[in-house]
Amino acid sequence: MNSRPSPRDCVALTGATGFVGGHLLRRLTAAGWQVRALTRRPAALDPGEAVIPVVGDLESEAALAELVTGATAVVHCAGLVAARSAAEFQQVNAEGTARLLRATTSSATPPRFLLISSLAAREPQLSAYAASKRRAEEILCDRMAGHAWQVLRPPVVYGPGDRATLPLFRQCARGLVLRPAGEGRFSMLYVEDLADAVTALLAQDAPAGRIMELDDGKADGYGWEEVLATAERQLGRRVRSLAVPRPVQRLAAALGSLGAAATGRPAMLSQGKVNEIAHPDWVCRNGLLGDCISWRAAVGLDEGFSNTAAWYKAAGWL
Ligand SMILES: NC(=O)c1ccc[n+]([C@@H]2O[C@H](COP(=O)([O-])OP(=O)(O)OC[C@H]3O[C@@H](n4cnc5c(N)ncnc54)[C@H](OP(=O)(O)O)[C@@H]3O)[C@@H](O)[C@H]2O)c1
Repeated sequence: MNSRPSPRDCVALTGATGFVGGHLLRRLTAAGWQVRALTRRPAALDPGEAVIPVVGDLESEAALAELVTGATAVVHCAGLVAARSAAEFQQVNAEGTARLLRATTSSATPPRFLLISSLAAREPQLSAYAASKRRAEEILCDRMAGHAWQVLRPPVVYGPGDRATLPLFRQCARGLVLRPAGEGRFSMLYVEDLADAVTALLAQDAPAGRIMELDDGKADGYGWEEVLATAERQLGRRVRSLAVPRPVQRLAAALGSLGAAATGRPAMLSQGKVNEIAHPDWVCRNGLLGDCISWRAAVGLDEGFSNTAAWYKAAGWL
């Protein structure tokens, strides 16, 4: 069944000032939802009549209670993708989820809970990030037993506004990409398709208690050669690549960690991230989402790359 929310139906959203959450916010309000958005930075929130800011963070129990009370659904997208320590990943990604779940389950009829996890949660032994995302899923399964919940595990997400894949686009535009050595394969997903999947999931009667991987429909994912060939087609220029061996990645991560310790900022390339990069199989395959609802990704890599590069250029990022 596909239904449009009534004007009073409200989604409680976390992470709305971030890359994925910003797209979710726009897509949900466009679909007719009123969105209550938890934020530490209300000025950074996309304004709109249908958006109600709730000022606070995942540590603030009062703000979390205000966020979820009376909501039809909770979409939990806030999280750290880089942190200064394993403890910080756990504190925000796992314990923050636990606190939000405590607020959610304090009502007799808890709202439906949708967790934006990560494909990384499939391999929790690889990194502190992956372990924290897996722990969040486990806490959710435990605390929401008997209630309506779903987990989405996106692969690499890219699109307008993304700072994580910006360096790759910049290297492509310069014609030389430093890529990891090895033959790993990975799925990808354009951010607006992820936002559409969340919106479709909320509008349809999907079975509860599912952990679902989702991608752009490319059955065996991509290797670096295909990504670089796409970049060449879309940028209209030759793109060469240099394969960086793992010991060099490890050295770069060690230097990055020293820099991070000195500046107090998280390193983008950690030893855990090197482990994730070295993992040969980041291809989504459980296909459960397609069995549950009538969503299919609409944007393939060529179109997604072209849209993203155009957005970066217009924003002066590229
Ligand atoms: N991007 C990807 O490729 C990808 C792939 C798979 C899964 N995911 C998942 O998608 C989610 C969003 O990722 P993203 O790429 O959009 O990251 P992002 O741009 O860094 O956004 C993170 C969001 O979480 C908020 N946040 C962080 N710590 C918080 C805290 N303690 N309390 C309240 N809010 C907090 C941030 O708020 P501020 O703006 O105030 O910092 C921001 O709104 C994450 O859970 C990530 O694991 C992302």
